[in-house]
Amino acid sequence: MRETILVLDFGGQYNQLIARRVRECNVYCEVRPYTMTVEEIKQMAPKGIILTGGPNSVYDMASPHGDPEIFSLGIPVLGICYGAQLMAWTLGGKVATAPVSEYGKTEVTVADRSGLLREVSDRTVTWMSHTDYIEKVPEGFSITAYTPVCPVAAMENKEKNLYAFQFHPEVTHSREGKKMLSAFVYGPCGCRGDWKMDSFVETAITRIREKVGNGKVLCALSGGVDSSVAAVLMSKAVGRQLTCVFVDHGLLRKNEGDEVEAVFGPEGEYDLNFIRVNAQQRFYDRLSGVTDPEKKRKIIGEEFIRVFEEEADKIGAVDYLVQGTIYPDVIESGLGKSAVIKSHHNVGGLPDHVQFKEIIEPLRMLFKDEVRAAGLALGLPEYLIFRQPFPGPGLGVRIIGEVTEEKVRIVQDADAIYRQEIAAAGLDKSISQYFAALTNMRSVGVMGDFRTYDYAIALRAVITDDFMTAEAARLPWDVLERVTTRIVNEVEHVNRVLYDCTGKPPATVEME
Ligand code: XMP
Repeated sequence: MRETILVLDFGGQYNQLIARRVRECNVYCEVRPYTMTVEEIKQMAPKGIILTGGPNSVYDMASPHGDPEIFSLGIPVLGICYGAQLMAWTLGGKVATAPVSEYGKTEVTVADRSGLLREVSDRTVTWMSHTDYIEKVPEGFSITAYTPVCPVAAMENKEKNLYAFQFHPEVTHSREGKKMLSAFVYGPCGCRGDWKMDSFVETAITRIREKVGNGKVLCALSGGVDSSVAAVLMSKAVGRQLTCVFVDHGLLRKNEGDEVEAVFGPEGEYDLNFIRVNAQQRFYDRLSGVTDPEKKRKIIGEEFIRVFEEEADKIGAVDYLVQGTIYPDVIESGLGKSAVIKSHHNVGGLPDHVQFKEIIEPLRMLFKDEVRAAGLALGLPEYLIFRQPFPGPGLGVRIIGEVTEEKVRIVQDADAIYRQEIAAAGLDKSISQYFAALTNMRSVGVMGDFRTYDYAIALRAVITDDFMTAEAARLPWDVLERVTTRIVNEVEHVNRVLYDCTGKPPATVEME
Protein backbone atom coordinates (compact mmCIF):
# COMPACT_ATOMS: atom_id res chain seq x y z
CA MET A 1 0.00 0.00 0.00
CA ARG A 2 1.21 3.50 -0.80
CA GLU A 3 2.72 5.39 2.12
CA THR A 4 0.96 8.68 2.72
CA ILE A 5 1.63 11.54 5.06
CA LEU A 6 -1.49 13.55 5.75
CA VAL A 7 -1.22 17.30 6.26
CA LEU A 8 -4.24 18.71 8.08
CA ASP A 9 -4.78 22.31 7.07
CA PHE A 10 -5.53 24.79 9.84
CA GLY A 11 -5.30 27.80 7.55
CA GLY A 12 -1.55 28.46 7.48
CA GLN A 13 0.25 29.98 4.53
CA TYR A 14 2.80 27.24 4.04
CA ASN A 15 0.63 24.15 3.98
CA GLN A 16 1.40 23.11 0.43
CA LEU A 17 5.03 23.82 1.11
CA ILE A 18 4.95 21.27 3.94
CA ALA A 19 3.45 18.72 1.54
CA ARG A 20 6.06 19.50 -1.03
CA ARG A 21 8.92 19.07 1.46
CA VAL A 22 7.52 15.68 2.41
CA ARG A 23 7.27 14.71 -1.25
CA GLU A 24 10.90 15.76 -1.57
CA CYS A 25 11.61 12.99 0.96
CA ASN A 26 10.00 10.63 -1.60
CA VAL A 27 6.87 10.12 0.44
CA TYR A 28 3.46 10.89 -1.00
CA CYS A 29 1.72 13.68 0.85
CA GLU A 30 -1.71 15.26 0.66
CA VAL A 31 -3.16 18.39 2.23
CA ARG A 32 -6.72 18.05 3.55
CA PRO A 33 -8.89 20.41 5.57
CA TYR A 34 -8.73 20.04 9.36
CA THR A 35 -12.41 19.09 9.27
CA MET A 36 -11.52 15.66 7.87
CA THR A 37 -13.17 13.15 10.20
CA VAL A 38 -11.33 10.55 12.23
CA GLU A 39 -13.16 7.89 10.21
CA GLU A 40 -11.85 9.34 6.97
CA ILE A 41 -8.37 9.52 8.43
CA LYS A 42 -8.51 5.89 9.51
CA GLN A 43 -9.61 4.92 6.02
CA MET A 44 -6.70 6.78 4.46
CA ALA A 45 -4.37 5.15 7.02
CA PRO A 46 -1.58 7.71 6.75
CA LYS A 47 1.84 6.85 8.13
CA GLY A 48 1.93 10.20 9.86
CA ILE A 49 -0.11 13.36 10.32
CA ILE A 50 1.21 16.91 10.22
CA LEU A 51 -0.88 19.71 11.68
CA THR A 52 -0.19 23.01 9.99
CA GLY A 53 0.13 26.55 11.24
CA GLY A 54 -2.79 28.93 11.14
CA PRO A 55 -3.73 32.48 12.05
CA ASN A 56 -5.84 31.69 15.14
CA SER A 57 -5.32 31.32 18.88
CA VAL A 58 -6.10 27.85 20.23
CA TYR A 59 -7.61 29.21 23.44
CA ASP A 60 -10.20 31.09 21.40
CA MET A 61 -13.07 28.60 21.30
CA ALA A 62 -14.08 29.78 17.83
CA SER A 63 -10.72 28.61 16.43
CA PRO A 64 -10.44 25.37 14.47
CA HIS A 65 -9.61 22.55 16.86
CA GLY A 66 -10.09 19.39 14.81
CA ASP A 67 -10.94 16.13 16.52
CA PRO A 68 -8.82 15.50 19.67
CA GLU A 69 -8.92 11.80 18.82
CA ILE A 70 -6.21 12.36 16.18
CA PHE A 71 -3.72 12.35 19.05
CA SER A 72 -4.69 8.88 20.20
CA LEU A 73 -4.97 6.99 16.91
CA GLY A 74 -1.48 5.59 17.31
CA ILE A 75 -0.44 7.50 14.17
CA PRO A 76 2.62 9.74 14.71
CA VAL A 77 1.63 13.42 14.74
CA LEU A 78 3.80 16.46 14.14
CA GLY A 79 2.31 19.85 14.99
CA ILE A 80 3.81 22.93 13.39
CA CYS A 81 3.25 26.43 14.83
CA TYR A 82 -0.54 26.60 15.43
CA GLY A 83 -0.51 22.79 15.11
CA ALA A 84 2.09 22.63 17.89
CA GLN A 85 0.01 24.88 20.12
CA LEU A 86 -3.09 22.86 19.34
CA MET A 87 -1.31 19.68 20.42
CA ALA A 88 -0.13 21.30 23.66
CA TRP A 89 -3.52 22.84 24.44
CA THR A 90 -5.56 19.72 23.61
CA LEU A 91 -3.38 17.46 25.73
CA GLY A 92 -3.42 19.64 28.84
CA GLY A 93 -0.44 21.96 28.37
CA LYS A 94 -0.66 25.74 28.51
CA VAL A 95 -0.69 28.13 25.55
CA ALA A 96 -0.59 31.88 26.06
CA THR A 97 0.26 35.11 24.27
CA ALA A 98 4.04 35.41 24.11
CA PRO A 99 5.56 38.49 25.82
CA VAL A 100 7.04 39.40 22.42
CA SER A 101 6.24 37.87 19.05
CA GLU A 102 9.02 36.20 17.15
CA TYR A 103 9.01 36.79 13.45
CA GLY A 104 11.62 35.76 10.92
CA LYS A 105 14.92 33.98 11.29
CA THR A 106 15.34 32.81 14.87
CA GLU A 107 18.10 30.80 16.44
CA VAL A 108 16.87 27.86 18.43
CA THR A 109 18.91 25.98 21.05
CA VAL A 110 18.48 22.24 20.85
CA ALA A 111 18.02 20.67 24.29
CA ASP A 112 17.37 17.07 23.36
CA ARG A 113 18.71 15.34 20.30
CA SER A 114 17.23 11.95 20.84
CA GLY A 115 14.17 12.53 18.62
CA LEU A 116 13.42 14.61 15.52
CA LEU A 117 16.30 17.02 16.17
CA ARG A 118 18.81 14.20 16.09
CA GLU A 119 20.69 15.47 13.06
CA VAL A 120 20.56 19.22 13.52
CA SER A 121 23.21 21.51 15.01
CA ASP A 122 23.13 22.49 18.70
CA ARG A 123 22.03 25.95 17.66
CA THR A 124 20.05 26.02 14.47
CA VAL A 125 18.44 28.84 12.56
CA THR A 126 14.72 28.38 12.08
CA TRP A 127 11.91 30.56 10.86
CA MET A 128 9.32 31.74 13.36
CA SER A 129 6.07 33.59 12.94
CA HIS A 130 3.97 33.55 16.10
CA THR A 131 2.28 35.68 18.74
CA ASP A 132 1.17 32.78 20.97
CA TYR A 133 3.54 30.24 22.44
CA ILE A 134 3.52 27.08 24.47
CA GLU A 135 4.13 28.05 28.06
CA LYS A 136 3.90 24.62 29.61
CA VAL A 137 4.13 21.23 27.91
CA PRO A 138 1.48 18.56 28.57
CA GLU A 139 2.33 15.59 30.76
CA GLY A 140 4.61 13.06 29.15
CA PHE A 141 6.26 15.67 26.89
CA SER A 142 9.79 16.95 27.09
CA ILE A 143 11.15 20.22 25.75
CA THR A 144 13.57 19.54 22.91
CA ALA A 145 14.41 23.11 21.85
CA TYR A 146 13.94 26.66 23.12
CA THR A 147 14.77 30.28 22.35
CA PRO A 148 15.21 33.21 24.76
CA VAL A 149 11.57 34.15 24.09
CA CYS A 150 10.02 30.77 23.61
CA PRO A 151 10.47 28.22 26.41
CA VAL A 152 9.07 25.49 24.13
CA ALA A 153 10.35 25.89 20.58
CA ALA A 154 9.98 22.12 20.17
CA MET A 155 8.54 19.33 22.30
CA GLU A 156 8.18 15.58 22.01
CA ASN A 157 6.42 12.65 23.59
CA LYS A 158 8.30 9.77 22.02
CA GLU A 159 6.26 7.12 23.75
CA LYS A 160 3.11 8.40 22.05
CA ASN A 161 4.90 9.54 18.90
CA LEU A 162 3.74 13.13 19.25
CA TYR A 163 6.05 15.92 18.13
CA ALA A 164 5.73 19.67 17.84
CA PHE A 165 7.71 22.60 16.45
CA GLN A 166 6.84 26.21 17.14
CA PHE A 167 8.94 27.18 14.09
CA HIS A 168 8.36 26.36 10.43
CA PRO A 169 10.73 23.63 9.23
CA GLU A 170 9.18 23.73 5.73
CA VAL A 171 10.38 27.25 4.93
CA THR A 172 13.86 27.42 3.39
CA HIS A 173 14.99 29.94 6.02
CA SER A 174 14.86 27.06 8.51
CA ARG A 175 18.27 25.86 7.52
CA GLU A 176 17.95 22.33 8.79
CA GLY A 177 14.18 22.07 8.45
CA LYS A 178 14.33 19.35 5.85
CA LYS A 179 16.39 17.15 8.15
CA MET A 180 13.72 17.56 10.82
CA LEU A 181 10.85 16.67 8.49
CA SER A 182 12.80 13.77 7.12
CA ALA A 183 13.51 12.60 10.70
CA PHE A 184 9.73 12.57 11.29
CA VAL A 185 8.89 10.79 8.06
CA TYR A 186 11.63 8.16 8.27
CA GLY A 187 11.76 7.91 12.09
CA PRO A 188 8.44 7.58 13.91
CA CYS A 189 6.39 7.26 10.70
CA GLY A 190 8.66 4.50 9.45
CA CYS A 191 8.29 5.45 5.78
CA ARG A 192 10.34 3.66 3.13
CA GLY A 193 10.45 6.66 0.83
CA ASP A 194 9.79 4.88 -2.45
CA TRP A 195 7.41 7.43 -3.93
CA LYS A 196 8.46 9.26 -7.09
CA MET A 197 6.84 11.53 -9.65
CA ASP A 198 6.16 8.40 -11.74
CA SER A 199 3.78 7.33 -9.03
CA PHE A 200 2.04 10.70 -9.13
CA VAL A 201 1.59 10.27 -12.86
CA GLU A 202 0.31 6.70 -12.56
CA THR A 203 -2.11 7.61 -9.82
CA ALA A 204 -3.26 10.69 -11.70
CA ILE A 205 -3.90 8.68 -14.88
CA THR A 206 -5.86 6.03 -12.99
CA ARG A 207 -7.91 8.66 -11.15
CA ILE A 208 -8.61 10.57 -14.36
CA ARG A 209 -9.73 7.40 -16.14
CA GLU A 210 -12.02 6.45 -13.27
CA LYS A 211 -13.51 9.89 -13.19
CA VAL A 212 -13.88 10.53 -16.91
CA GLY A 213 -15.09 7.11 -18.03
CA ASN A 214 -16.30 7.55 -21.61
CA GLY A 215 -16.82 11.28 -21.13
CA LYS A 216 -15.65 14.05 -23.44
CA VAL A 217 -12.89 16.31 -22.21
CA LEU A 218 -11.96 19.80 -23.35
CA CYS A 219 -8.65 21.48 -22.58
CA ALA A 220 -7.38 24.98 -23.23
CA LEU A 221 -3.82 24.46 -24.36
CA SER A 222 -1.44 27.40 -24.26
CA GLY A 223 1.75 25.58 -25.12
CA GLY A 224 3.28 26.58 -21.79
CA VAL A 225 4.70 23.99 -19.44
CA ASP A 226 1.62 23.68 -17.22
CA SER A 227 -1.07 23.29 -19.84
CA SER A 228 1.20 21.05 -21.94
CA VAL A 229 1.82 18.70 -19.04
CA ALA A 230 -1.87 18.75 -18.15
CA ALA A 231 -2.85 18.04 -21.77
CA VAL A 232 -0.41 15.17 -22.20
CA LEU A 233 -1.44 13.70 -18.84
CA MET A 234 -5.05 13.84 -20.00
CA SER A 235 -4.26 12.46 -23.44
CA LYS A 236 -2.39 9.52 -21.88
CA ALA A 237 -5.43 8.88 -19.71
CA VAL A 238 -8.26 9.31 -22.20
CA GLY A 239 -6.70 9.65 -25.68
CA ARG A 240 -9.04 11.08 -28.28
CA GLN A 241 -11.81 11.71 -25.81
CA LEU A 242 -9.72 14.85 -25.28
CA THR A 243 -9.90 17.93 -27.50
CA CYS A 244 -7.33 20.67 -27.00
CA VAL A 245 -8.12 24.18 -28.12
CA PHE A 246 -5.16 26.45 -28.65
CA VAL A 247 -6.09 30.13 -28.87
CA ASP A 248 -3.40 32.19 -30.55
CA HIS A 249 -4.10 35.58 -29.00
CA GLY A 250 -1.30 37.31 -30.83
CA LEU A 251 0.55 37.87 -27.57
CA LEU A 252 2.79 34.83 -27.84
CA ARG A 253 6.55 34.78 -28.21
CA LYS A 254 8.02 34.95 -31.70
CA ASN A 255 6.93 31.94 -33.82
CA GLU A 256 5.41 30.28 -30.79
CA GLY A 257 2.01 29.65 -32.30
CA ASP A 258 3.57 27.57 -35.06
CA GLU A 259 5.80 25.75 -32.60
CA VAL A 260 2.84 24.75 -30.45
CA GLU A 261 1.01 23.54 -33.51
CA ALA A 262 4.05 21.50 -34.58
CA VAL A 263 4.13 19.70 -31.23
CA PHE A 264 0.45 19.13 -30.55
CA GLY A 265 -1.12 19.39 -33.99
CA PRO A 266 -1.77 16.61 -36.48
CA GLU A 267 1.92 16.41 -37.39
CA GLY A 268 2.88 16.08 -33.73
CA GLU A 269 3.30 12.94 -31.70
CA TYR A 270 0.36 13.05 -29.34
CA ASP A 271 -2.92 11.32 -29.62
CA LEU A 272 -5.45 14.09 -29.16
CA ASN A 273 -7.75 16.36 -31.12
CA PHE A 274 -6.06 19.70 -31.66
CA ILE A 275 -7.74 22.95 -32.74
CA ARG A 276 -5.82 26.18 -33.33
CA VAL A 277 -7.76 29.43 -33.37
CA ASN A 278 -6.07 32.46 -34.89
CA ALA A 279 -7.66 35.24 -32.89
CA GLN A 280 -4.81 37.79 -32.94
CA GLN A 281 -6.76 40.70 -34.38
CA ARG A 282 -9.66 40.31 -31.99
CA PHE A 283 -7.30 40.72 -29.05
CA TYR A 284 -5.49 43.74 -30.53
CA ASP A 285 -8.84 45.41 -31.18
CA ARG A 286 -10.07 44.87 -27.65
CA LEU A 287 -6.80 46.05 -26.12
CA SER A 288 -6.65 49.21 -28.16
CA GLY A 289 -6.40 52.26 -25.87
CA VAL A 290 -6.32 50.22 -22.63
CA THR A 291 -3.42 50.95 -20.27
CA ASP A 292 -4.43 49.70 -16.81
CA PRO A 293 -2.66 46.38 -16.06
CA GLU A 294 -5.58 44.72 -14.30
CA LYS A 295 -7.96 45.87 -17.05
CA LYS A 296 -5.63 44.44 -19.67
CA ARG A 297 -5.45 41.14 -17.82
CA LYS A 298 -9.23 41.05 -17.48
CA ILE A 299 -9.77 41.83 -21.16
CA ILE A 300 -7.31 39.20 -22.30
CA GLY A 301 -8.82 36.68 -19.90
CA GLU A 302 -12.38 37.48 -20.98
CA GLU A 303 -11.64 37.54 -24.66
CA PHE A 304 -9.76 34.29 -24.31
CA ILE A 305 -12.79 32.73 -22.71
CA ARG A 306 -15.07 34.12 -25.37
CA VAL A 307 -12.95 32.70 -28.20
CA PHE A 308 -12.66 29.46 -26.31
CA GLU A 309 -16.43 29.33 -25.79
CA GLU A 310 -17.08 29.86 -29.48
CA GLU A 311 -14.86 26.90 -30.28
CA ALA A 312 -16.38 24.83 -27.51
CA ASP A 313 -19.80 25.66 -28.92
CA LYS A 314 -18.81 23.97 -32.16
CA ILE A 315 -17.81 20.84 -30.23
CA GLY A 316 -21.04 20.78 -28.23
CA ALA A 317 -21.52 19.69 -24.65
CA VAL A 318 -18.48 18.21 -22.92
CA ASP A 319 -18.24 16.44 -19.62
CA TYR A 320 -15.02 17.86 -18.29
CA LEU A 321 -12.96 20.97 -18.69
CA VAL A 322 -9.23 20.67 -17.96
CA GLN A 323 -7.20 23.48 -16.48
CA GLY A 324 -3.44 23.49 -16.04
CA THR A 325 -3.67 25.40 -12.77
CA ILE A 326 -0.71 24.82 -10.50
CA TYR A 327 -0.38 25.60 -6.84
CA PRO A 328 1.29 29.05 -6.96
CA ASP A 329 -1.51 30.25 -9.28
CA VAL A 330 -4.01 29.19 -6.67
CA ILE A 331 -2.55 31.26 -3.86
CA GLU A 332 -1.50 34.26 -5.89
CA SER A 333 -4.94 34.71 -7.32
CA GLY A 334 -6.18 35.42 -3.85
CA LEU A 335 -8.21 32.33 -3.10
CA GLY A 336 -8.82 32.06 0.61
CA LYS A 337 -7.59 35.01 2.59
CA SER A 338 -4.48 36.00 0.67
CA ALA A 339 -4.49 39.35 -1.05
CA VAL A 340 -5.01 39.60 -4.81
CA ILE A 341 -1.63 40.42 -6.31
CA LYS A 342 -2.53 39.75 -9.93
CA SER A 343 -5.53 38.07 -11.40
CA HIS A 344 -4.05 35.11 -13.19
CA HIS A 345 -6.42 34.39 -15.96
CA ASN A 346 -6.23 30.64 -15.69
CA VAL A 347 -7.83 30.58 -12.27
CA GLY A 348 -11.34 31.59 -11.49
CA GLY A 349 -12.15 32.95 -14.96
CA LEU A 350 -14.25 30.10 -16.23
CA PRO A 351 -16.29 30.13 -19.38
CA ASP A 352 -19.95 30.67 -18.61
CA HIS A 353 -21.30 29.25 -21.79
CA VAL A 354 -19.34 26.05 -22.13
CA GLN A 355 -21.49 23.22 -20.99
CA PHE A 356 -19.50 20.92 -18.79
CA LYS A 357 -20.08 18.91 -15.66
CA GLU A 358 -16.86 19.47 -13.82
CA ILE A 359 -13.41 20.98 -13.91
CA ILE A 360 -10.34 18.79 -13.75
CA GLU A 361 -7.16 20.41 -12.49
CA PRO A 362 -4.65 17.56 -12.43
CA LEU A 363 -1.70 19.76 -11.39
CA ARG A 364 -3.41 21.86 -8.76
CA MET A 365 -1.28 20.55 -5.91
CA LEU A 366 2.09 20.81 -7.63
CA PHE A 367 4.76 23.47 -7.62
CA LYS A 368 6.40 24.39 -10.89
CA ASP A 369 9.44 22.18 -10.51
CA GLU A 370 7.17 19.29 -9.57
CA VAL A 371 5.13 19.91 -12.73
CA ARG A 372 8.36 19.62 -14.71
CA ALA A 373 9.23 16.38 -12.93
CA ALA A 374 5.75 15.06 -13.79
CA GLY A 375 6.28 16.08 -17.43
CA LEU A 376 9.54 14.16 -17.57
CA ALA A 377 7.89 11.16 -15.97
CA LEU A 378 5.29 11.41 -18.76
CA GLY A 379 8.04 11.18 -21.30
CA LEU A 380 7.65 14.71 -22.63
CA PRO A 381 10.74 15.99 -24.43
CA GLU A 382 13.11 18.09 -22.34
CA TYR A 383 12.91 21.12 -24.61
CA LEU A 384 9.23 21.32 -23.85
CA ILE A 385 9.55 20.67 -20.14
CA PHE A 386 12.33 23.14 -19.56
CA ARG A 387 10.64 25.70 -21.67
CA GLN A 388 10.21 28.78 -19.59
CA PRO A 389 6.94 29.48 -17.92
CA PHE A 390 4.88 31.92 -19.91
CA PRO A 391 1.95 33.84 -18.45
CA GLY A 392 -1.55 33.29 -19.77
CA PRO A 393 -1.94 36.95 -20.81
CA GLY A 394 1.37 36.59 -22.66
CA LEU A 395 3.15 39.63 -23.95
CA GLY A 396 0.16 41.65 -22.80
CA VAL A 397 1.82 41.79 -19.35
CA ARG A 398 5.25 42.41 -20.83
CA ILE A 399 4.23 45.51 -22.69
CA ILE A 400 3.71 48.27 -20.18
CA GLY A 401 0.75 50.42 -21.12
CA GLU A 402 -1.25 50.10 -24.30
CA VAL A 403 -0.71 47.00 -26.41
CA THR A 404 -0.39 47.54 -30.14
CA GLU A 405 0.59 45.21 -32.92
CA GLU A 406 3.79 47.18 -33.43
CA LYS A 407 4.77 46.92 -29.78
CA VAL A 408 4.10 43.19 -29.88
CA ARG A 409 6.47 42.90 -32.81
CA ILE A 410 9.15 44.93 -31.00
CA VAL A 411 9.00 42.88 -27.83
CA GLN A 412 8.86 39.59 -29.76
CA ASP A 413 11.98 40.46 -31.73
CA ALA A 414 13.90 41.71 -28.71
CA ASP A 415 12.88 38.69 -26.68
CA ALA A 416 13.93 36.27 -29.43
CA ILE A 417 17.40 37.84 -29.52
CA TYR A 418 17.68 37.73 -25.73
CA ARG A 419 16.67 34.07 -25.64
CA GLN A 420 19.11 33.15 -28.40
CA GLU A 421 22.00 34.81 -26.62
CA ILE A 422 21.17 33.34 -23.22
CA ALA A 423 21.04 29.88 -24.78
CA ALA A 424 24.25 30.51 -26.72
CA ALA A 425 25.96 31.48 -23.46
CA GLY A 426 24.76 28.20 -21.91
CA LEU A 427 22.75 30.02 -19.27
CA ASP A 428 19.27 28.88 -20.23
CA LYS A 429 19.08 26.01 -17.73
CA SER A 430 20.40 27.97 -14.79
CA ILE A 431 17.95 30.87 -15.04
CA SER A 432 14.39 30.13 -14.02
CA GLN A 433 12.75 32.71 -16.27
CA TYR A 434 14.06 35.41 -18.55
CA PHE A 435 12.42 37.63 -21.10
CA ALA A 436 12.38 41.02 -22.67
CA ALA A 437 9.63 43.47 -21.81
CA LEU A 438 8.74 46.73 -23.46
CA THR A 439 8.74 49.64 -21.06
CA ASN A 440 6.41 52.40 -22.00
CA MET A 441 9.33 54.75 -21.83
CA ARG A 442 10.69 56.54 -24.86
CA SER A 443 13.88 58.50 -24.68
CA VAL A 444 16.32 60.38 -26.83
CA GLY A 445 19.18 58.56 -28.47
CA VAL A 446 21.49 58.99 -31.37
CA MET A 447 21.93 56.58 -34.23
CA GLY A 448 24.25 57.35 -37.09
CA ASP A 449 24.18 61.11 -36.90
CA PHE A 450 20.50 61.29 -36.19
CA ARG A 451 18.50 61.93 -33.12
CA THR A 452 16.14 59.12 -32.20
CA TYR A 453 13.21 59.09 -29.83
CA ASP A 454 12.45 55.46 -29.26
CA TYR A 455 11.50 52.75 -26.78
CA ALA A 456 13.52 51.19 -23.98
CA ILE A 457 13.49 47.42 -23.65
CA ALA A 458 13.81 45.98 -20.15
CA LEU A 459 15.54 42.63 -19.77
CA ARG A 460 14.43 40.44 -16.90
CA ALA A 461 16.07 37.27 -15.61
CA VAL A 462 15.16 35.64 -12.31
CA ILE A 463 16.25 32.70 -10.23
CA THR A 464 13.59 30.98 -8.21
CA ASP A 465 12.38 27.57 -7.06
CA ASP A 466 8.72 28.23 -6.85
CA PHE A 467 8.07 31.67 -8.42
CA MET A 468 6.61 32.92 -5.16
CA THR A 469 9.86 34.65 -4.37
CA ALA A 470 12.68 35.28 -6.82
CA GLU A 471 15.97 37.08 -7.14
CA ALA A 472 17.40 38.81 -10.18
CA ALA A 473 20.01 36.69 -11.96
CA ARG A 474 23.57 38.05 -12.04
CA LEU A 475 24.03 37.88 -15.77
CA PRO A 476 27.57 38.20 -17.12
CA TRP A 477 28.19 41.68 -18.45
CA ASP A 478 29.45 40.47 -21.81
CA VAL A 479 26.17 38.63 -22.40
CA LEU A 480 24.16 41.72 -21.50
CA GLU A 481 26.37 43.76 -23.77
CA ARG A 482 25.91 41.40 -26.70
CA VAL A 483 22.15 41.30 -26.23
CA THR A 484 22.00 45.08 -25.98
CA THR A 485 24.03 45.61 -29.13
CA ARG A 486 21.95 43.16 -31.08
CA ILE A 487 18.62 44.54 -29.88
CA VAL A 488 19.39 48.17 -30.66
CA ASN A 489 20.84 47.20 -34.01
CA GLU A 490 18.27 44.67 -35.10
CA VAL A 491 14.99 45.81 -33.57
CA GLU A 492 13.50 48.90 -35.03
CA HIS A 493 12.30 51.59 -32.59
CA VAL A 494 14.46 50.50 -29.68
CA ASN A 495 17.34 52.77 -28.69
CA ARG A 496 17.93 51.71 -25.08
CA VAL A 497 18.16 48.43 -23.17
CA LEU A 498 17.81 48.24 -19.39
CA TYR A 499 18.36 45.36 -16.99
CA ASP A 500 15.85 44.85 -14.19
CA CYS A 501 17.77 44.05 -10.98
CA THR A 502 14.72 43.78 -8.72
CA GLY A 503 13.77 40.66 -6.82
CA LYS A 504 10.29 39.41 -5.93
CA PRO A 505 9.23 40.82 -3.58
CA PRO A 506 9.17 43.79 -3.93
CA ALA A 507 8.70 43.46 -7.70
CA THR A 508 6.85 40.60 -9.38
CA VAL A 509 8.35 38.51 -12.14
CA GLU A 510 6.16 39.95 -14.88
CA MET A 511 5.82 43.69 -15.32
CA GLU A 512 2.06 43.95 -15.10
P1 XMP B 1 4.49 37.14 -11.16
O1 XMP B 1 4.56 38.18 -12.20
O2 XMP B 1 3.12 36.97 -10.58
O3 XMP B 1 4.82 35.78 -11.90
O4 XMP B 1 5.54 37.27 -10.10
C1 XMP B 1 5.04 34.54 -11.27
C2 XMP B 1 5.01 33.49 -12.32
O5 XMP B 1 3.69 33.38 -12.83
C3 XMP B 1 3.67 33.68 -14.21
N1 XMP B 1 2.45 34.46 -14.44
C4 XMP B 1 1.32 33.93 -14.93
N2 XMP B 1 1.04 32.70 -15.34
N3 XMP B 1 -1.15 33.35 -15.90
C5 XMP B 1 -0.18 32.40 -15.82
O6 XMP B 1 -0.43 31.28 -16.22
C6 XMP B 1 -0.96 34.62 -15.52
O7 XMP B 1 -1.84 35.45 -15.60
C7 XMP B 1 0.36 34.93 -15.01
N4 XMP B 1 0.93 36.06 -14.53
C8 XMP B 1 2.21 35.75 -14.19
C9 XMP B 1 4.94 34.44 -14.48
O8 XMP B 1 5.36 34.31 -15.82
C10 XMP B 1 5.89 33.79 -13.51
O9 XMP B 1 6.39 32.60 -14.01
